Amino acid sequence: MSDQSSAPNTAPITVPMIRTAKVRDGHVPLVMVTAYDAPGARIADAAGVDMILVGDSVANVVLGYEDTLQVTIEDMAHHVAAVARARPNALIVGDLPWMSYHVDAADTVRNAAVLIRAGAQCVKLEGGSVRAPMVEALVRAEIPVMGHLGLTPQSVNTMGGYRVQARDDDAAAELIEGAQTLVSAGIFATVVEVVPEKVGAALTEALEVPTIGIGAGPHCDGQVLVMHDLLGVTARSAKFVRRYAELADVATEAVAAFAADVRSGAYPADREVYH
Ligand code: KIV
Repeated sequence: MSDQSSAPNTAPITVPMIRTAKVRDGHVPLVMVTAYDAPGARIADAAGVDMILVGDSVANVVLGYEDTLQVTIEDMAHHVAAVARARPNALIVGDLPWMSYHVDAADTVRNAAVLIRAGAQCVKLEGGSVRAPMVEALVRAEIPVMGHLGLTPQSVNTMGGYRVQARDDDAAAELIEGAQTLVSAGIFATVVEVVPEKVGAALTEALEVPTIGIGAGPHCDGQVLVMHDLLGVTARSAKFVRRYAELADVATEAVAAFAADVRSGAYPADREVYH
């Protein structure tokens, strides 16, 4: 995990390894990608990422919903289990979906336990200081927690859309204060999504635990992207996404070639037939 290569990890990545991985202490930036199934997990692990996030983005990226509010704890457990069956060395982060940690601490711990039993090694939840009691309850139950600050997609209705967050000084100070409260409550790392570069930098400077940015600039302790975005599977992507491939185009061409071969009689050929 500590070198700069993209070789597969030869040993499992653990929460304590991530907790101490601050760039200012000489650590190489952390890498996290989403995966929602076993093939995705195998690809991520073979590429040598540190963490696989089974994100609630499965809702809009894979399941065709408009937003992430539609997935349940059972949906998330189904996808966590599929990722875990690939037995990656990368740390599996299970995303707690909307309404699975908003009611009370007991409910939160029971829901997180569903993801842990499905194969996650830790959970992620969205929000600032208001989530501190839930984080404390999870940590007391031996469930490691990753935070998620800035643009929190589960708050889409409250935020009125997916917008850059913490644009003014007061909002930035509130975000950093909330993050510090969550660190005191026990989070071992936090995602920070779609905030100005200087807020990503200030948050990273202020926290003892790693920040993992997505649209939060280059000064975070790591970066996360949705795998379908970086592979060019999703139709549109945000400004912060770098598309390393255009797999939707490659896949469409391949399926069109198959269709053409079937229609022309070129498929199956003799070598593709059992005699
Ligand atoms: O669900 C998800 O994919 C996420 C990332 C955007 C960080 O939370």
